[in-house]
Amino acid sequence: GHVLVLAGGLSYEREVSLRSGRRVTEVLRSAGIDVETRDTDSTLVPTVLADPPDVVFVTLHGGSGEDGAIRSVLELLSVPYVGAGPDACRVAYDKPTAKTVVRSVGVRTPDAVVLPKETFHDLGASAVLGRIIDRLGLPLFVKPSRGGSALGGSIVRKAAELPAAMVGCFAYGDTALIERYVEGVEVAVSVIDLGDGPVALPPVEIVAAEGVYDYSARYTAGHTEFFAPARLRPEVAEACAAMAVTAHTALGLRDLSRTDLIVDADGVPHFLEVNVAPGMTETSLLPMAVAAAGQDLGAICRGLLEVAVK
Ligand code: DAL
Ligand code: MG
Repeated sequence: GHVLVLAGGLSYEREVSLRSGRRVTEVLRSAGIDVETRDTDSTLVPTVLADPPDVVFVTLHGGSGEDGAIRSVLELLSVPYVGAGPDACRVAYDKPTAKTVVRSVGVRTPDAVVLPKETFHDLGASAVLGRIIDRLGLPLFVKPSRGGSALGGSIVRKAAELPAAMVGCFAYGDTALIERYVEGVEVAVSVIDLGDGPVALPPVEIVAAEGVYDYSARYTAGHTEFFAPARLRPEVAEACAAMAVTAHTALGLRDLSRTDLIVDADGVPHFLEVNVAPGMTETSLLPMAVAAAGQDLGAICRGLLEVAVK
């Protein structure tokens, strides 16, 4: 038998996924596991049928890798895999839905409006956007409701910037999530469940050199400064960890996730989103959190595979 790492795919995060896949493959090999890596395309089903893996590690970001589709295929093929099931992914990957779910269990998340591209065009951009600013105020953060790696996302500080932000957003998705922008410290909390319940790793603090943690700040070494663990008061760090575990549980996630949040000036965390296939690249947050916890990424990934086949 062997382990299959699925990477690549056709989402906008393809390149990131290939890097995550390479990293997971390396650390699993170092941990003594027989691993095969595949770019993910329509040959997936015949390949799996011809030589079924014991278990799959999904490092596909965005699109079918995180929206539940690939996991439905794996369910159909009766192949165990690391990570959340299709239904939970569908809910978690849609940011407005995820926000609604976590808010219902008492998690604070910025007020937001959801705007499909058709509505934006049909109603006339200026009328719609004016009403949104009346309701949410400024600044705002605009992003595709389904997506990742900050693609199509931007901060809007002045009303005049909103139309361009919408256009940038719709380049990456058909529905926009327009959120009140919370000023504060960006923090990511990874959650791992090796069979004894979800456990938060140390929060990681993100300080983007140019002030914005965009795609290049994420994946170009040196463009962002990270503090792992985050420079937070113990009770604030504890609140961040609790928020990540609550989100993971409320959304019905399994094995691993990463919650991204903002800690405001009063030390209050605000939930932004949860990732069901967190980045595993050299500059990604979950690997940093694992290192900050004094743990070994290979051992964690191996543990996740063991849980998946149980
Ligand atoms: N969507 C990217 C891969 C991340 O959240 O790490
Ligand atoms: Mg994300």
